[in-house]
Amino acid sequence: MVDGMLASSFEGIGADYDRYRPGFPDAAADILAPRRVATALDLGAGTGKFTALLVDRAAEVVAVEPSAAMLDVLRTKLPRVIAREGSAERIPVADSTIELVSVAQAFHWFDRDAACAEILRVLVEDGSLGLLWNRSDPSCDWDRAAHRVAHPAVQDADGTSDATSEELPGFQLRSHDELRWTERITREDYLRRWSTVSTFLVAEPHERDHMLARITRILDAHPETRGATEFELPIVTDVFVYRRA
Ligand SMILES: C[S@@+](CC[C@H](N)C(=O)[O-])C[C@H]1O[C@@H](n2cnc3c(N)ncnc32)[C@H](O)[C@@H]1O
Repeated sequence: MVDGMLASSFEGIGADYDRYRPGFPDAAADILAPRRVATALDLGAGTGKFTALLVDRAAEVVAVEPSAAMLDVLRTKLPRVIAREGSAERIPVADSTIELVSVAQAFHWFDRDAACAEILRVLVEDGSLGLLWNRSDPSCDWDRAAHRVAHPAVQDADGTSDATSEELPGFQLRSHDELRWTERITREDYLRRWSTVSTFLVAEPHERDHMLARITRILDAHPETRGATEFELPIVTDVFVYRRA
């Protein structure tokens, strides 16, 4: 069940999200759109981090997002994209018009059954749905330890337990790829990134300070990060492609 408070935690954040969150590798978009499509829809598009990769892969790109602050950033960055306020459960797009729907780092916030029915409604007959998640690389123990601080309820310690293939009503899973890549990030930006995750956004200031202090201690203690002002952060991007069942 979706935690409504966490799901709406992104309402007021835009510029910081765009500045500090990681993007997605081009290879992820190549999997979803191996050739140019006529219409693509990015759902829960945020500030357009994944939407940007669709611009050269689709003649028309629509971005749907409930947060006005996120959409403001997206509109400034990607003026050619048709940006609409809306949600996955009520997509402001006509029936059978979209070849590719992408959902980056957002599907776990949707009401799954309502969203699947809506996505099926807007997709053309042979259209596809791509779900993407960035997650901590299991080989990077300091980043995993930081994820455990930020997502204490998550059992598998990487903060992205949703990145498993699941059965979606009306869809069939076609492929799952795990893309490994590395982001060069400053220590300062790594620490600021945490203030853009949902658990930090809804936390009381003293809880936020406490979590940040714990993550700072992890960086200060680990031989790969101790004393360093920049690190190589390994990231895994999961890409799931679904077709209409
Ligand atoms: C972690 S952000 C991901 C944003 C963007 N896709 C990215 O990868 O940077 C999750 C996004 O899902 C949006 N969201 C939350 N609930 C939603 C819903 N029911 N329908 C559509 N988007 C939703 C949030 O406003 C937020 O922008």
